[in-house]
Amino acid sequence: MASLDFNPLEHPVVFAGPQFMSIYSAWVEHFPFAFLLIDLARPRVFVELGTHQGDSYCAFCQGIVATASQTKCFAVDSWAGDDQAGFYGDEVLKSLREHHDPLYSRFSTLVRANFDDASKQFADGSIDLLHIDGHHAYESVKHDWETWRRKVSDRGIVLFHDTATRDREDFGVWKLWDELSPQHLSLEFPHGGGLGVLVTGANAPQPVVQFMHFARANLALVRNFFETLGNRMLTFQVSLKMCDRLEATWQALAHWRQQVGMQPALPAITMAQGMTNPPAFARMTAEETRRVIEEDLRLRQWLAQQQRQQSPQQPSKPPA
Ligand SMILES: C[S@@+](CC[C@H](N)C(=O)[O-])C[C@H]1O[C@@H](n2cnc3c(N)ncnc32)[C@H](O)[C@@H]1O
Repeated sequence: MASLDFNPLEHPVVFAGPQFMSIYSAWVEHFPFAFLLIDLARPRVFVELGTHQGDSYCAFCQGIVATASQTKCFAVDSWAGDDQAGFYGDEVLKSLREHHDPLYSRFSTLVRANFDDASKQFADGSIDLLHIDGHHAYESVKHDWETWRRKVSDRGIVLFHDTATRDREDFGVWKLWDELSPQHLSLEFPHGGGLGVLVTGANAPQPVVQFMHFARANLALVRNFFETLGNRMLTFQVSLKMCDRLEATWQALAHWRQQVGMQPALPAITMAQGMTNPPAFARMTAEETRRVIEEDLRLRQWLAQQQRQQSPQQPSKPPA
């Protein structure tokens, strides 16, 4: 009889702050569950299909370090993009390496390859945790599942991202999820695009099996708990989006300053700083917001003063 107890306080990693995130990935909302899953499953080998900027992958790596799990990790991606994620250049992998290599390269490898080619590097039954997050068309995700399912071990757990995106014609993960989830012990988190958790292995780790039974018996509670923790991650991501806006505002203000003969004022923060330490960055963004608003106000006051004086021959001194 499976235990129906789950106490998150026994897994403090679930409350950890993020160490890395990008501006747009919907996966950030699942970071707390990724941390928990590593703590519960302690996989020997973790493979991710579809890494892009590294949001999900770095969350798993962060969880591995935080829980001292003895896991070997492999991120597989062409790092070229596709028609859904968008096509991108080498700078994406370069920027991921800058964060990933110093922290995680002792146990983690970034494999730049097509999924089908990379599958030949993994023995059958060798992967304890597989995350499928590549192209989301039904035919593509089904192909990835069918190619990689035999690689999964008897302790296996398979994750699918974007199970809840049903309103896009080119997305069909939900359809595969509808087929697979009744055949296995399964759980879906509908927030963050939807994350499906499929326990495929007959000898899956007991803590995972117990958690799954608890979650299925307390579905609303567990979903709400992880959605709430996921919202906390979104708050940090909002500061990245804010920085994006602030950079655009600085550009507009710089143009204005140039028009009136002033030196451009420089932004104090850039988004790259935020990706690698989102909590500290959120505080810096608050300060930067104040700076931009004050700068904007100063320029407006100066302009208003100019208009009042209406004396083009003798303009006031512009603010420093
Ligand atoms: C949805 S994104 C991954 C998102 C990422 N997991 C995150 O946390 O934001 C999909 C990625 O899969 C890659 N991809 C899609 N199909 C692929 C294939 N057949 N082989 C290699 N890479 C592929 C794309 O290059 C893209 O970077």
